[in-house]
Amino acid sequence: MALLQNSFMATHWTYLLNRNPFRNLFGTKNLVKSMVADPELVQAILVRDFHVFTDRSRASKSGDDSIAKHSLVHMSGDAWRGVRAIVSPTFSPNKLRQMYPIISQCVSEFITHLDQNYHGKLTDIDVNDKFWRFTMDTILRCEFGALTYFLAGTKTTSTVLAFCTYVLVVNPDCQQRLYDEIQAITGNQNRDIGYETLDSMPYLDACVSETLRLYSPFPRVKRVANTDYTFPAIGLTIKAGQRVEIPVHAMHRSPDNFVDPDKFNPDSVIVAMERRKK
Ligand code: HEM
Repeated sequence: MALLQNSFMATHWTYLLNRNPFRNLFGTKNLVKSMVADPELVQAILVRDFHVFTDRSRASKSGDDSIAKHSLVHMSGDAWRGVRAIVSPTFSPNKLRQMYPIISQCVSEFITHLDQNYHGKLTDIDVNDKFWRFTMDTILRCEFGALTYFLAGTKTTSTVLAFCTYVLVVNPDCQQRLYDEIQAITGNQNRDIGYETLDSMPYLDACVSETLRLYSPFPRVKRVANTDYTFPAIGLTIKAGQRVEIPVHAMHRSPDNFVDPDKFNPDSVIVAMERRKK
């Protein structure tokens, strides 16, 4: 249901963004909420002046003891800072390198399961469900520990995997290029792909990035200003306590930001990465 609501809102915002005369910045009449879709202002909110926007709008009400309350995404203020300090080191390259053999083992078992049950058979597969179970299993076996990771990591990752499979099916040329890239690395011998090797697979990286652009599992990101904040470039002030929403999906599908925005185009990511390196 939440996914359905999100996808409806994402489509609605794409409509609004493309039709409103102010394009990248608009709000409700009483300015309880502002919608910011200008890439530079978004960069200010999420990166440069992030210290002002650490809180999310859905801070739990006191007395709320739902599971969602324990998700970092729903925490705010000191509660968020405290848990964040514990969580951050989990994603260091060193930690990820240590986890990699477990992830690799989970992938290998998943492929064996698909081979044994579906290879050569004309059967429908609920890929969403398959990837969800695979992701749950992997996150649990990596022993991330806290409920936080489980809530934040399962639906996001499995949704991206399912959509990535979908775009590769409907774009067989891209699928072939990705297959060739993998074969070139594994030497046609079904060898494991090592952690370091992932860095030398630009087309895989580009396919995942394009999937995230077209089908972001977070179609909007919300933040609340913890103090009055003025965007230096335009002089607009966001009041303390005011909500700012970033329509991620609408920005990703806007012709202002991407050429032919509805098209799956991994090459555009490779070109952008090359440009950034120069
Ligand atoms: C492709 C998969 C994923 C995507 C697209 C994704 C995306 C995101 C986004 C956009 C946020 C920020 C949400 C907000 O500020 O409102 C977030 C937060 C978070 N994600 Fe993920 N995520 C993914 C996978 C994972 C996995 C696998 C884990 C852990 C196992 C994880 C753990 C977290 C945590 C702990 C936070 C909260 C961070 C904080 O508040 O500082 N995510 N994720």
